[in-house]
Amino acid sequence: MMPNTEIYNLKVNGKNHEVRDAWVGESLLYVLRERLGLPGSKGACEQGECGSCTVIMDGQAVCSCLVMAATAIDAEIKTIEGLTTDGALTEVQDAFITEGGVQCGFCTPGLVVAIEHLLDNNQSPSEIEIKEAISGNICRCTGYGRIFEAVQTAVATRRAGK
Ligand code: FES
Ligand code: FES
Repeated sequence: MMPNTEIYNLKVNGKNHEVRDAWVGESLLYVLRERLGLPGSKGACEQGECGSCTVIMDGQAVCSCLVMAATAIDAEIKTIEGLTTDGALTEVQDAFITEGGVQCGFCTPGLVVAIEHLLDNNQSPSEIEIKEAISGNICRCTGYGRIFEAVQTAVATRRAGK
């Protein structure tokens, strides 16, 4: 019987990666972390409930634990590692630090990706739009107040063009 494996290419953070000898049913989250060495996206529930694994796929924020990696062929995938190319923090990441939006940090990559996605599509989100954008991202530590402050700080920083 033939092994249920495949060779395919994934385009992640602007770079092509060949995935070899992989089971075709592996999740995108698993392939990113375990095969491509990109551990920034976190696996917490692995059931689409917590948002820790959020990545951008063809312009949409998705839970990478729910995406079969083989179905991401030909898609443009961006992970937390690909938000900047020079190692500098984004306005959102900087605001999480200055506003104290990070405690254990497990939710942080998914939240940052979701918020970057929001701000790339809406430069002046309302309170309800911010809440809606992060409604799929569960934080067990912060109570969301400081995360919300961080989003508003990032919005102001972006507006000021810093
Ligand atoms: S790990 Fe994907 S939604 Fe929780
Ligand atoms: S900072 Fe711990 S889960 Fe959000």
